Amino acid sequence: MKTLFLTFFFLTLSQIINAQHSIIPEPVSFEGKNASFVLRDVLNFNIETQDPQTNQYINQFKTLLEKSGITAVASNKIVENSITFTLNKKKDNELGVEGYLLDVTNSGITLTANGSSGIFNGLQSLRQLLPPHFETITNYDSKSIQIPGCKIKDYPRFGWRGLMLDVSRHFFTVEEVKSFIDQMSQYKFNVFHWHLTDDQGWRIEIKSYPKLTEVGAWRVERHGYFGTDRTAPKEGEKATYGGYYTQEDIKEVVQYALDRNITIVPEIDFPGHSMAALAAYPELASNNDPKYVEPGGKFVQWNPDFTFEMFIENMLNPADEGVYDFVDKIFTEIAALFPGKYIHMGGDEAYHGYWEENPEVQKFMKANKIANGNELQSYFVKRIEKIISSKNKKMIGWGEILIGGLADGATVMSWHDMQAGLEAAKLGHDVIMTPRAYTYLDLAQGDHSVETQNRYVNLEKVYSFDPIPESIDPKFVLGGQGCLWTERIPNLPFAFYMTYPRAFALSEALWTPKENKDWEYFIQKTEIHFKRFDLKSLNISKAVYDPIVRVYKDNGKLMCELTNSIPGTEIFYTINNTYPVRFGKKYTDPFEIPMGDLSLRTQTYRNDKPMGRMLLIHRTDLEKRANK
Ligand code: ACM
Repeated sequence: MKTLFLTFFFLTLSQIINAQHSIIPEPVSFEGKNASFVLRDVLNFNIETQDPQTNQYINQFKTLLEKSGITAVASNKIVENSITFTLNKKKDNELGVEGYLLDVTNSGITLTANGSSGIFNGLQSLRQLLPPHFETITNYDSKSIQIPGCKIKDYPRFGWRGLMLDVSRHFFTVEEVKSFIDQMSQYKFNVFHWHLTDDQGWRIEIKSYPKLTEVGAWRVERHGYFGTDRTAPKEGEKATYGGYYTQEDIKEVVQYALDRNITIVPEIDFPGHSMAALAAYPELASNNDPKYVEPGGKFVQWNPDFTFEMFIENMLNPADEGVYDFVDKIFTEIAALFPGKYIHMGGDEAYHGYWEENPEVQKFMKANKIANGNELQSYFVKRIEKIISSKNKKMIGWGEILIGGLADGATVMSWHDMQAGLEAAKLGHDVIMTPRAYTYLDLAQGDHSVETQNRYVNLEKVYSFDPIPESIDPKFVLGGQGCLWTERIPNLPFAFYMTYPRAFALSEALWTPKENKDWEYFIQKTEIHFKRFDLKSLNISKAVYDPIVRVYKDNGKLMCELTNSIPGTEIFYTINNTYPVRFGKKYTDPFEIPMGDLSLRTQTYRNDKPMGRMLLIHRTDLEKRANK
């Protein structure tokens, strides 16, 4: 009994000590100390390495401190009030490439790592140990700036911790892309997957094919939701919406990312998703229909089993040798611009319908003993793989590159679910897990009555993501990533709203040891990061505070269940068309929604303060949901 009590006591104590920090992602180990380091207006930086990249990271931290009125003076002596940065002479295998040790005492801070990436990651933790208001301080007051004493040992669970941004469906400027990269780096993401081309815009300058951006980067402007009644360009109509990155822009962003420990993986999506490319070079298509950069209309019919039919062609012609020459020249330029080892060739949602109708393609298939569309797709992907590996890069493709046979050496990004990843790993290929039910950041994160996006993946679901499904050999799983498709995301503030806080959850899924993950603790930390975002006027979704509404039929009655995934909240509701709901009923158990022209109004409260948004859903909508 005593042992049990002591275990309980120490567990509770360690949780209390843990609660002293709000570092996301949660470190491998955090030991609180009864101490704190007071930041004075002059601080000593003791840098025990000449490594230029490490010094660049340290300089960035110095600039951050300077913005809040703290001067950092470099000195190679350990004196009082120092931060000491050290690179291990002998590598610490446990820390690996990206791990670090951080020790904060009353008199000083030491940050130790094997290399620059570890120093960068340690600095992100140190930054998060600073109080939320630190970065918006205008009136420096040393007494208020204390870093809690602690000892942290930390390293990532996965080497690939990515976020993808689609800049085709909506264009994001260089400054906006940098801002996206800067923010993700603070949560220790290390891969920025840049979805640069798609049907709705080609966004990267390719010098050997100038029309890709002269024509392909611009579309006629249409409003309203993507995929609905947006109309095709009228005869002679000017294409005014769009933009692209020059090669100089790209180099600038690549360097900016490297300065934040981030590698960029460029994606050029072939053979499908190529309407913008075909608008520029229609001779590369397999039919003669007029081509234009798609403005977001309805050009595809999806079936529940994920099969689909295209109404407009968006595929390169695999029977045309000119297409391979085109792809080769493009990847030559891409390989020279991006220093990372991977190039993503897309490969998703390739529609075979137009290929099958084309006699030239049929003849090509016969001549090359290609039996069907799947094999033809595989033929195409294998040729692309050869082109990419000839540039000393490794090819990545979406899960569909398994169709008809996987190319040697290809890495698979599994997006429908984790099945493609499982199959590829069985064949001995590396995989990256981005199953959409967990990682697609374009999906709604709150109730559809208050969100504009389709489908649903809330914060708690993202938090539960484990990139290693049962029965996979973990050594093939490089990691995972969140994907932000931007059909319905026209600007950066909304991109932030869709990305955060779900990217916090992803960062813990990809960095933190599984056994250290704890939803309730994560939420406490998330609330502190809400404050960080609010203080900087950065948009972040608080949908996690909203009630979760589930309706169902029970013996013909329309029943409603309300939950909320945050501890410590109470849910109130009314079904008599009155508000504020705080003066309605407190939710305890599922209740009946009576017949009538009435709406459910519901909201969460904590200590009598409203937390989430008030949801307002008419009975007819509840009925529709229950009948789905
Ligand atoms: C994808 O979502 N089409 C990769």
